[in-house]
Amino acid sequence: MYLKLFFFIILSQCLHYSSSQILDFTYNGFPHPLPDISVQGFATVTRNGLLMLTNMTVQKTGHAFYNKPIRFKDSPNGSVSSFSTTFVFAIHSPFPILSGHGMAFVVAPNTSLPFATSGQYLGLFNFTNNGNETNHVFAVELDTISNFEFNDPNNNHVGIDINSLESVKSLPAGWWDEKGQFKNLTLMSRKPMQVWVDYDGLTHQINVSLAPFRKSKPTKPLVSIVKDLSSVLLQDMFVGFSSATGSFLSEHFVLGWSFGVNRKAPPLSKLPKLPKFKERDIFYKNWMLSISIFVVPLVFIPSLIFLVRFILLRRRKFAEELEDWETDFKKNRLKFKELYYATKGFKEKGLLGSGGFGSVYKGVLPKTQQEIAVKRVSNESKQGLKEFVSEIVSIGRMSHRNLVPLLGYCRRRDELILVYDYMPNGSLDQYLYNTPELTLGWKQRIKVINGVASALFFLHEEWEQVVIHRDIKASNVLLDAEYNGRLGDFGLARLCGHGSDPQTTRVAGTWGYLAPEYVRTGHATTATDVFAVGVLLLEVACGRRPIEIQNESGERVFIVDWVFRFWIEGNILDAKDPNLGTEYDQREVEMVLKLGLMCSHSEPYIRPSMRQVIHYLSGDAMLPDLTPLDLYGRGMMLGIHHGFSELDMFTVASRMFTGGSSIVDSILSGGR
Ligand SMILES: Nc1ncnc2c1ncn2[C@@H]1O[C@H](COP(=O)(O)OP(=O)(O)OP(=O)(O)O)[C@@H](O)[C@H]1O
Ligand SMILES: *[C@@H]1O[C@H](CO)[C@@H](O)[C@H](O)[C@H]1NC(C)=O
Ligand SMILES: *[C@@H]1O[C@H](CO)[C@@H](O)[C@H](O)[C@H]1NC(C)=O
Ligand SMILES: *[C@@H]1O[C@H](CO)[C@@H](O)[C@H](O)[C@H]1NC(C)=O
Ligand SMILES: *[C@@H]1O[C@H](CO)[C@@H](O)[C@H](O)[C@H]1NC(C)=O
Ligand SMILES: *[C@@H]1O[C@H](CO)[C@@H](O)[C@H](O)[C@H]1NC(C)=O
Ligand SMILES: *[C@@H]1O[C@H](CO)[C@@H](O)[C@H](O)[C@H]1NC(C)=O
Ligand SMILES: *[C@@H]1O[C@H](CO)[C@@H](O)[C@H](O)[C@H]1NC(C)=O
Ligand SMILES: [Mg+2]
Repeated sequence: MYLKLFFFIILSQCLHYSSSQILDFTYNGFPHPLPDISVQGFATVTRNGLLMLTNMTVQKTGHAFYNKPIRFKDSPNGSVSSFSTTFVFAIHSPFPILSGHGMAFVVAPNTSLPFATSGQYLGLFNFTNNGNETNHVFAVELDTISNFEFNDPNNNHVGIDINSLESVKSLPAGWWDEKGQFKNLTLMSRKPMQVWVDYDGLTHQINVSLAPFRKSKPTKPLVSIVKDLSSVLLQDMFVGFSSATGSFLSEHFVLGWSFGVNRKAPPLSKLPKLPKFKERDIFYKNWMLSISIFVVPLVFIPSLIFLVRFILLRRRKFAEELEDWETDFKKNRLKFKELYYATKGFKEKGLLGSGGFGSVYKGVLPKTQQEIAVKRVSNESKQGLKEFVSEIVSIGRMSHRNLVPLLGYCRRRDELILVYDYMPNGSLDQYLYNTPELTLGWKQRIKVINGVASALFFLHEEWEQVVIHRDIKASNVLLDAEYNGRLGDFGLARLCGHGSDPQTTRVAGTWGYLAPEYVRTGHATTATDVFAVGVLLLEVACGRRPIEIQNESGERVFIVDWVFRFWIEGNILDAKDPNLGTEYDQREVEMVLKLGLMCSHSEPYIRPSMRQVIHYLSGDAMLPDLTPLDLYGRGMMLGIHHGFSELDMFTVASRMFTGGSSIVDSILSGGR
């Protein structure tokens, strides 16, 4: 009887057990109508038997739960039994590199998670309940987005989640193959993959394995932790899947699924095929194509235009001209870019001055820190350029101590750039006129004059060919650190006067320094240079501009006439610069004044050569003891310096003989 009762109890318990407890189930595909599975949200079952948790809709969730409760514990306070599950999934997105958010195997207290949100919450939790122990949710996530707030390792990971999306442990997706080597897997690769989740009720070990579909279960799991789930799982729980999309269009599929409590999940076989994504691919390719048709022009073309413009502008900005004949001067070529940076972009700040041919900028060569003066000469025609360049380069190579050293040149369209040593003390004109801040003593002036004379003598006679400077004047006499006079701008005037055709050649030079015969014929000679030297000598001795405008009458007074008047009046020394002070040699000043007059005589043949000038200046030869009449007594026209045309000379001449000017008067009277 007792035995009978005992058997009955055992039997009834067994029967009860077997009738009410789910021990395992298997879905090799998901047939229509779907037995024992409830789907919610955007989850559906496709016609060919795939469980599609989410379709191509953004920010949605999908759930599918086995709708019979699973008894995980023998008693409410008992420990969780061993369980095991395996499933095959695939994730598809139109863009093979963008998918989201992911999917998860879930053990939850109910067949729905109504408050769970999409996106990074994977349809498991929401912002407020994430991490709350009252959730009683265990999940294995297959996550294709990296959320730093959940400490995700990357955008392709597998994690074990307990009540929270911050995984207890997560690792990049991959598997340990038969040879024990780790291989990466890409969850969103569209390829089917199998997952195994095993929990050992005694050791509390949770293993999660992943492998490509049709591979056997890896012997080494991907993620493994030891965690007692007794406090997490309730006695009866529901198992299923959750998935969510974010901003990327994605489909999450389950192809097959089996589950077992206290036993291994049954193996899966004959699973339905994934749909061919081709049709959609074409659609999305077209979509991408149409996107690119709009986006590429919108984004790339303006930036391309910008880039091309930038490059072109830069190229134009730094463009240079280089011709075959320049190969000989390669060493003297300088890069415009370098000069541009040396002068900080030819800024107004670095402008030293502007003359008849261009502007001069101060600069510092970046490589050597050498100070330079950069002269930009606009030059529209190329006539004579070759000769000019070869001349200045070869003279520059000579490095005469009284010539401003030419460091090199650069040629651009319509422009020639000459690079000289920077002369720290500027040009002579800054020390002479009116009452300058700084003036030079007589010794210094003589030194400067000697320097200029020696440089010009070099150009006229010592150099292999006769070089005519054509633009001797105070602003082209530069002072180096020791106040040596150095002649600059040699040859430039010829370049700008253009070539050899006397019909078209312009007169280039500076008023006040132009010899009358040069103005008449346009033919420059060494004597025309000497004329300018004469004016320069007078300037240095008198501290006066070559042409000064008289305050009262507005009349222009030429320095030669002005000095000549003092000479005629017998007190030539009164013409000297009042700023000279007292420390000067009277005889020397007188000599310089007379030599100046002699050099700037209107008749070229009366002017001395530079060789003679040097002799006179050095005292090696005595200046002939001239009187005004010796110089101008042969009926030479005076006042020629005022005018430069034949007509002007005619009027001057006639005025001379009608006794219009007091100087002429005195000459005439003196001559008689
Ligand atoms: N190598 C140099 N070092 C220092 N300053 C210089 C140098 N070359 C020129 N300068 C300064 O730049 C100014 C302008 O020179 P620029 O040669 O352009 O004009 P200019 O000499 O007055 O006339 P021109 O064009 O007839 O030579 C000069 O007055 C001089 O003060
Ligand atoms: C996704 O599923 C929802 C609901 O099932 C449906 O309304 C929608 O049309 C589907 N979208 C696509 C792209 O299949
Ligand atoms: C289960 O544990 C709770 C406290 O954790 C206790 O109140 C309850 O009585 C226990 N139930 C059983 C059946 O042991
Ligand atoms: C599951 O949720 C539904 C409502 O969503 C509720 O009626 C039901 O009681 C819940 N079941 C359990 C086991 O919590
Ligand atoms: C989150 O879910 C809980 C239930 O788990 C619900 O009470 C709460 O209102 C939800 N919060 C939001 C913001 O949806
Ligand atoms: C967890 O959720 C419960 C019920 O929803 C709530 O009472 C409790 O305050 C939450 N705990 C935390 C830490 O948010
Ligand atoms: C595997 O993935 C990891 C991180 O995701 C990466 O560093 C590694 O280079 C990958 N290995 C191969 C063979 O692709
Ligand atoms: C987890 O994997 C290890 C081998 O890495 C194995 O020894 C252990 O039995 C596994 N546990 C479960 C619950 O499968
Ligand atoms: Mg100059």
